[in-house]
Amino acid sequence: MTVMTTMQAVVLDAQGRYQVTDRPVPVAGPGEVAVRVGYAGVQWGDTMVRDGHFPVPRPFVPGFEAAGRIVSVGDGVDGGRVGEAVAVLTASGCCAEVVVAPAVLALPVGRLPLRTAAAAGWSTPTAYDLVNTAARVRPGERVLVHAAAGGVGTLAVQFARLGGAASVTGVAGSPERAAYAAEFGYDEVLLRDDFPAALGDRRFDVVLDPVGAGTRRESLQLLAPHGRLVAYGNIAGYEPILADTNDLLMRGASLLTYNSSLLSSTHPERLAASVRAALDLLADGKVRVDVTAEYELGELALAVERLADGTTRGKSVLRVGGPAVHQNI
Ligand SMILES: NC(=O)c1ccc[n+]([C@@H]2O[C@H](COP(=O)([O-])OP(=O)(O)OC[C@H]3O[C@@H](n4cnc5c(N)ncnc54)[C@H](OP(=O)(O)O)[C@@H]3O)[C@@H](O)[C@H]2O)c1
Repeated sequence: MTVMTTMQAVVLDAQGRYQVTDRPVPVAGPGEVAVRVGYAGVQWGDTMVRDGHFPVPRPFVPGFEAAGRIVSVGDGVDGGRVGEAVAVLTASGCCAEVVVAPAVLALPVGRLPLRTAAAAGWSTPTAYDLVNTAARVRPGERVLVHAAAGGVGTLAVQFARLGGAASVTGVAGSPERAAYAAEFGYDEVLLRDDFPAALGDRRFDVVLDPVGAGTRRESLQLLAPHGRLVAYGNIAGYEPILADTNDLLMRGASLLTYNSSLLSSTHPERLAASVRAALDLLADGKVRVDVTAEYELGELALAVERLADGTTRGKSVLRVGGPAVHQNI
């Protein structure tokens, strides 16, 4: 493998423009690995950074998920890992030829292609944890998934099925998105405009909610006795939603939250265990990630715009480096 001192990276500037620039290759610090990136995933967080909803300093090298090969390790990391093909989760920097990641969050991809491993990103362990760690879906339970056609939603339905859910109902924004979501195993997918009226007096043991605002308030009322709502995003807005704990107590119901980003800094080994479990299920073909678009490094702006405006169906990845890089990987 060639030793590089500079690399190409995408940089998001203070004016919100993405530019490919030459930058020094980042060096792995203690407990870290440096990874030559083959593919990086594009995700909703990229739209939030672009739109200023994440307070990151600019210029900023975007990209929170990638797969590639370890090229060097920092102090305290087994040097035998150099050469390992890994999927990484980071706080930034994946839209570049080399990214530095915590060694604990650089998981061997095994039989998975790098492209699929990059696409698994944060959404796969998040969906795994929502179902298995936070809500703890039990066999026979009824599950409702908001943003059913998104990256997390299309995986959550598959994990809920594996967990033995009796039924999984989705909510999507348009008939096209509902039809797409249905391909992943939902029993039915409602349109957002018909929520909650179309559900009548039906109740759910588990609701997965990245939407917030009025959707969260209405969804709390849909919980069956001992039901759990997991709040994990605020797509529709940041207004505080207050829950009446006395009412929840009388119904034995719970309002939970899940935050994978926080988990990666407080308990990275827990997140790593979920990444491992999710990657293994992907490799075994028990669940799938739908990669529908591949872009070059210089096309990140387009990839993020298409995600933000709803054009993207499924997962987008960036192919990093030219053919020579891919041969080395
Ligand atoms: N807490 C965590 O640890 C964690 C981890 C990963 C992701 N997240 C959050 O989870 C959310 C979904 O992520 P993702 O990766 O699945 O996103 P994604 O693949 O980019 O899809 C975006 C989803 O948002 C839905 N959506 C867009 N505008 C909406 C609105 N006004 N009301 C309701 N739904 C709307 C879309 O539904 P339609 O296409 O049907 O319109 C689509 O399903 C994001 O907010 C993300 O930040 C949280």
